[in-house]
Amino acid sequence: MSASVKVVVTGAAGQIAYSLIPRLVNGRTFGDKKVDLVLVEIPQVVDKLKGLIMELEDSYFPNMGNITYTDNFDEAASDGDWFLLVGSIPRGIVFNGKKIEERSDLLSINGGIFVDQGQAIGKHGKDDAKILVVGNPANTNAFIGKNAANKDSQLWMAMTMLDSNRAKSIISKKTNKNISDIKNMIIWGNHSPTMYPDAENTIISGELGNSVINDMNWIESNFIPTVQQRGKAVIDARGASSATSAAKAAIDTIIACESPTESGECFSAAVASDGSYNVPEGLICGFPLITQKDGTVDIKRDIVLSDFGKTKIKISIDELLAEKEAVKHLMK
Ligand SMILES: NC(=O)c1ccc[n+]([C@@H]2O[C@H](COP(=O)([O-])OP(=O)(O)OC[C@H]3O[C@@H](n4cnc5c(N)ncnc54)[C@H](O)[C@@H]3O)[C@@H](O)[C@H]2O)c1
Repeated sequence: MSASVKVVVTGAAGQIAYSLIPRLVNGRTFGDKKVDLVLVEIPQVVDKLKGLIMELEDSYFPNMGNITYTDNFDEAASDGDWFLLVGSIPRGIVFNGKKIEERSDLLSINGGIFVDQGQAIGKHGKDDAKILVVGNPANTNAFIGKNAANKDSQLWMAMTMLDSNRAKSIISKKTNKNISDIKNMIIWGNHSPTMYPDAENTIISGELGNSVINDMNWIESNFIPTVQQRGKAVIDARGASSATSAAKAAIDTIIACESPTESGECFSAAVASDGSYNVPEGLICGFPLITQKDGTVDIKRDIVLSDFGKTKIKISIDELLAEKEAVKHLMK
């Protein structure tokens, strides 16, 4: 084995984590690196992680390194290379006697968690740590965490890969192509029902989606709302949120960041805007991304947006600005 990587996972006793954690040590996600895991949970459930650790040991993953668990995030963050921030309080549960239904309630409860975790990552994580926020509201949680970490050399991302994978799947059915023939499926904006999945700029068997699909009515009235509402459709059908597909998307994001992106291609995640595409600087917004040969992750800047696309993105940016306003008391 060439090297090791330390991965910190929060929400480790949750549904997504149960699918995610075994894939971190299966020898594919991080190649032949040894993977040290630190699993983090809240005090009420942290002891359940003993069972997961037994299962991981029993599975015999040759790439698995040290594995520990804790409810102390400061301790967990020490020298972390990757932070998968899955843990958050989900919509629908009763918290302090109140049923959490509104996004604004989610923002304030989870926002507090991400201030503490951000500070710990800034202080104790590696200088080049990569942080993937999965727990919702993912973009604004990442915004809060990045601000609290206050370390520009670390890369904060919010996950939009699941939306991108869902969109690819729908387009592959519509066009009768293999899912592997669909590339560059960009999710712009917020990981929320305002997101803009960009069918016009996706690449289908080497051609621009716009010309292959050639059906704006389908894009607007079928494709976009289906992608935007897919999370809710899964919850309605399963009685629980997307877990296996979310775990797969987190793995896809790691893999996309761990190796250089093929020329002309890109992948989807939300990162802090540098003003590209007129997105206000600092907002954590879904963009097309590329991983450079030196391992840095940049926004791909040569996508041409139609007026239709720009209008859709603006709706999502406005939502992100409103979320930013709602959490301004958590900013330093
Ligand atoms: N970005 C995406 O595409 C996407 C997709 C699906 C789900 N999600 C979100 O991912 C999150 C997790 O989903 P799940 O199905 O695994 O939920 P879950 O309820 O099964 O698990 C969440 C776990 O997080 C733990 N947790 C809560 N606060 C924590 C903290 N401060 N530190 C450590 N652990 C903490 C809880 O104890 C729980 O075990 C939810 O917010 C969900 O909305 C995001």
